[in-house]
Amino acid sequence: MTLLIKGAQPYGEDAVDILVRDGVIAAIGEDLSVSTGRTIDATGLVALPGLVDLHTHLREPGREDTETVLTGSRAAALGGYTAVHAMANTDPVADTAGVVEQVWRLGGDAGLVDVVPVGAVTVGLGGTQLAELGAMADSAARVRVFSDDGKCVSDPALMRRALEYVKALDGVVAQHAEEPRLTVGAQMHEGDRSARLGLTGWPAVAEEAIIARDVLLAEHVGARLHVCHVSTAGSVELVRWAKSRGVEVTAEVTPHHLLLTDAQAEGYDATFKVNPPLRTAEDVAALRAGLADGTVDAVATDHAPHAGEDKECEWSAARPGMLGLEQALSVVVDTMVDTGLLTWREVADRMSVRPARIGRLAHQGRPIAVGEPANLVLLDPAARAVVDPAALASKSRNSPYAGRELPGRVVHTLLRGELSVLDGKVQK
Ligand code: DOR
Ligand code: ZN
Repeated sequence: MTLLIKGAQPYGEDAVDILVRDGVIAAIGEDLSVSTGRTIDATGLVALPGLVDLHTHLREPGREDTETVLTGSRAAALGGYTAVHAMANTDPVADTAGVVEQVWRLGGDAGLVDVVPVGAVTVGLGGTQLAELGAMADSAARVRVFSDDGKCVSDPALMRRALEYVKALDGVVAQHAEEPRLTVGAQMHEGDRSARLGLTGWPAVAEEAIIARDVLLAEHVGARLHVCHVSTAGSVELVRWAKSRGVEVTAEVTPHHLLLTDAQAEGYDATFKVNPPLRTAEDVAALRAGLADGTVDAVATDHAPHAGEDKECEWSAARPGMLGLEQALSVVVDTMVDTGLLTWREVADRMSVRPARIGRLAHQGRPIAVGEPANLVLLDPAARAVVDPAALASKSRNSPYAGRELPGRVVHTLLRGELSVLDGKVQK
C-alpha cells in the first residue's frame, strides 16, 4: 500500500511531501511523486505523530450501551489518536490476563487505533488485594500501566507493594489521587461556590495529600508513578517538587481541566460533574503553565461515556465523567496553541511522545521521519466548528463542549499507513 501526502506541514513547519509505503514513512521531501497508490492533498494541514491517550474509558465489557471498543476506537481515530489506553474499571474489572486479552483482541478486531489495556492494581478495584499484575504484564496484551482509576489505591502499604511489583515489570502505577476519607459525598470543587450551591465539596487537599504521599513512596521504592488527571495548582507544585528531587513521577491533565472551571456547576447541568471536579480559574492557569513547562507530561482525555439516564438527572445522583476523545486536540489548540503556550512540536510531545513513553509503547509517539511507523494525524488548525453531540461517534452524548465553537479539525488519521480517518470520516 502506497500513500503520498502532498504539502503537509510536520510540526507546523515547512510544507513537504510524505511518502508512506507498507506502513512506514518511506520518504520525505519536495515534489515527490508516485505512479501507483493514493495521493492526498494536505495543503495547509499540520502533521503530527498519531496521538496517544493514557486514559480512556471504553466501557467494554459491561456497559456496551454507553461505549464499546469499536465505537470508542472510532471516536479516538476521529480525534487524531492512534493508540488509547483502555481503563480497567469495566464489568468485569480488567484485573486478570483473561479480561485484558479480551479487550486487546477487541481492539485488534476494530483495527482503528491500538487499544492498550490498563490492568487493575487491586482485585475488583477493591483496594485490599493486589491483582495478578505479572500475569497481565506477560499476557498477549503486554500490560505496563496499572490503575484502579475511578478509585484511589488509598492503603499506603498496598500502594507500596504495587510500586514494588510494577518496578520489576517495567510498568507504572497510574494513580487516581483522591483520599476517600476527605471526599465522602463530594459533588464539586470545595470552595465558595460549593457552599453557595449547597453541594458537598471535594477539597484540593484530597488530591494533593495522595500525590505527596505517593511521590515519597515512589522515591522510597525507586519505582515509576504516574498521576492521573491532576486538577489543582498545588498538585502541579508537588509534581514539580518531586521531579526536582529526581522522583520518577509523571502527570497528566485532561482537556476539560485545561478549559473549564467550577463555574460550570452554576446551572446544575450534570454534564459538568466529573471526578476530580472542575476547579478554579487559578487552578486552570497553573495547569496550563505546568503543561507548558513540562511539569505536567501529558494531556489525557479521561473520556468517560455515560448513559443519558446517568447524566440527565439531579446533580447529586449523576455519575461523574465526560467525553473527551473527539475534542481533545481542539481544546489543546484553543487553550495551549492559540494562546502561545505550546508549539506544535510541544503538542506532539505532550499528546504523543511522552504518553507513548510512559505506556512503554515502542511503535507510537515516534518522530515524523524516514523509517518510522506511519502513525500520523493531519489537522487543519484554522478550521473552527461548533460541537454537536449528536454528530459524535461515541455511543454517549455527555460532551461538555456541546454548542461551543472550537478550533482545529482532524482531517486525516493514519495507523501504520492505513487511513483510519479520511476527510474527517472514519473508515470502519
Ligand atoms: O469522572 C470520572 N469518571 N472520573 C473517574 O475517575 C472515573 C470516570 C468514569 O469511569 O466514569
Ligand atoms: Zn480517575
